[in-house]
Amino acid sequence: MKPTPEDRFSFGLWTVGWRAADPFGDPTRPALDPAESVRALADLGAWGVSFHDDDVVPFGADDQVRDRELDRLRAALAETGLRVPMVTTNLFSHPVFKDGGFTSNDRAVRRFALSKVLRNVDLAASLGAATYVLWGGREGSETDAAKDVGAALDRYREAIDTIAGYVLEQGYDLRLALEPKPNEPRGDILLPTIGHALAFIAELEHGAIVGVNPEVGHEQMAGLNFVHGVAQALWAGKLFHIDLNGQRGPRYDQDMVFGHGDLLSAFFLVDLLESAGYDGPRHFDYKPSRTEDVAGVWVSARANIDMYLLLRRRAAAFRADPVVRAALAESGVDDLRTPTLAPGETLADLRAESFDVDRAAGRGYGFVRLAQLAAEHLLGAR
Ligand code: GCO
Ligand code: MN
Ligand code: MN
Repeated sequence: MKPTPEDRFSFGLWTVGWRAADPFGDPTRPALDPAESVRALADLGAWGVSFHDDDVVPFGADDQVRDRELDRLRAALAETGLRVPMVTTNLFSHPVFKDGGFTSNDRAVRRFALSKVLRNVDLAASLGAATYVLWGGREGSETDAAKDVGAALDRYREAIDTIAGYVLEQGYDLRLALEPKPNEPRGDILLPTIGHALAFIAELEHGAIVGVNPEVGHEQMAGLNFVHGVAQALWAGKLFHIDLNGQRGPRYDQDMVFGHGDLLSAFFLVDLLESAGYDGPRHFDYKPSRTEDVAGVWVSARANIDMYLLLRRRAAAFRADPVVRAALAESGVDDLRTPTLAPGETLADLRAESFDVDRAAGRGYGFVRLAQLAAEHLLGAR
């Protein structure tokens, strides 16, 4: 299987570039040059790269360094034909952001965070990015005594509406995508799940250009069903971008290769994205394990692509199988698309209807058979 540009596979430069320092140990790999990573990812079949401002231009660099680093990146993009579908801001590494960016209790920090984002939004627009991701990893608290959550949400809304208003005013063809996460690095992070983010977006002035960038592992850290979350984001017309990776249940953010965590969930996710006509990037936000050397980094990057392609093939086989189609019909999966009330029908009609409760209660739905058929297709046994 060979990836093509139509597959829209993209990688964060911070993923392959992760030097594998963790809270218990030093980095195990050397720093990678972003321009070299662009070339290596192009060789693997990627279509795009994304990055935080600080992944390319060191925090606090002067204009000369900034121009030089951006020129090197632009040259690698031009040489490989890779695009930049998404850009984001680092509002979490520098100690100044230890209490957050947009929701820091320190107003001066909030103002600095906004200006850092606005500068990078200009860069994103100049590179032709379609999505600007906002992951508020430091927006949160360790103790409920520390944060007036209502005020924090006011400031969060103020920040997002300010950025969105700026995008509109500049006429940039850019949409914002909020990335939920329940915890890590903060004890508790604001907008912890897809559902919280969607409810927040509904309160925005410029919510029309704001959607979500859900990440597999982040919902699973909260014990939630990622496929359901993504389905609801699609249903709301808010799936602007997606972070694919692997996670095994509620624990620290594992950021494994896509499909190397909950494989069945990954299968149904690919099935959903492909059948729902999601046409955004298939963006991998994973971390090559700390045990891997630089060669292993590229093996792991390619593993993400291969997992997606394999799952897409298996999902297509599942959908095309006549046995599966018949089983889906028997289970009433398609019947759920029929509105519960017929057009023109009155509630009196509904209430007057006779209903055989015992018959309906005695019905078997055959869902386990469906689950088994999916598992057999996933395993290549059908
Ligand atoms: C994480 C997040 C980040 C964001 C990235 C883009 O858990 O570390 O997933 O990797 O996706 O900062 O905003
Ligand atoms: Mn993550
Ligand atoms: Mn992410």
